Amino acid sequence: MQRSSRFVAFATSNEHKSREAERVLSEFGISLERLPGKGTEIQADDLSSIALFAAKEASRRYLKPVIVEDAGLFIDELNGFPGPYSSYIYRTLGLEKFLQLLTSLRSRSAVFRSSVSYCAPNVEPLVFEGVSKGSIGSRASGTYGFGFDPVFKPEGYESTFAEMTLEQKNRLSHRGDSLRKFARWFLQNE
Ligand code: IMP
Repeated sequence: MQRSSRFVAFATSNEHKSREAERVLSEFGISLERLPGKGTEIQADDLSSIALFAAKEASRRYLKPVIVEDAGLFIDELNGFPGPYSSYIYRTLGLEKFLQLLTSLRSRSAVFRSSVSYCAPNVEPLVFEGVSKGSIGSRASGTYGFGFDPVFKPEGYESTFAEMTLEQKNRLSHRGDSLRKFARWFLQNE
């Protein structure tokens, strides 16, 4: 493992995301400073627009380079629902009612997506997208992680994200994917 020599600030109110990001970026020698809250979350149908707006706002507010992440769960047979509205659905329904909604589906294939946006003051923001393909289990299982982790099984695995260690989830997750793309760019360009 490389020694940490570079820093980047991550604006998020989600401690789980922050811990996941810290671990992924440490593998590239990048240290994370956590800033509270990602700021304004605009309503949009795509995660990247949401992350780009918030990153621009955060770098103006904190006067430094920042990353912001927006993520969501997209169910194939529901044309991507709940997607950018995942947080709302999770908060209003909870996992049990969410699973009840899916009982009539023929396919439980789903994709987790993550958009990480990086913005430095007075510079146009960039975005790095990550994906994790998988399926929604028939019941919640596991205690690690957050949100939909207990019901999401990444492709090729019988375990949910909530049954995996942080390292295992990071290797397979949408967030691990987008953050690794960001880290490679950051080390070459900043
Ligand atoms: P946001 O990026 O904070 O808007 O997150 C959207 C919602 O998607 C979260 O509140 C979670 O319910 C869900 N979500 C996003 N990423 C993950 C993940 O890695 N595991 C489980 N749920 C997630």
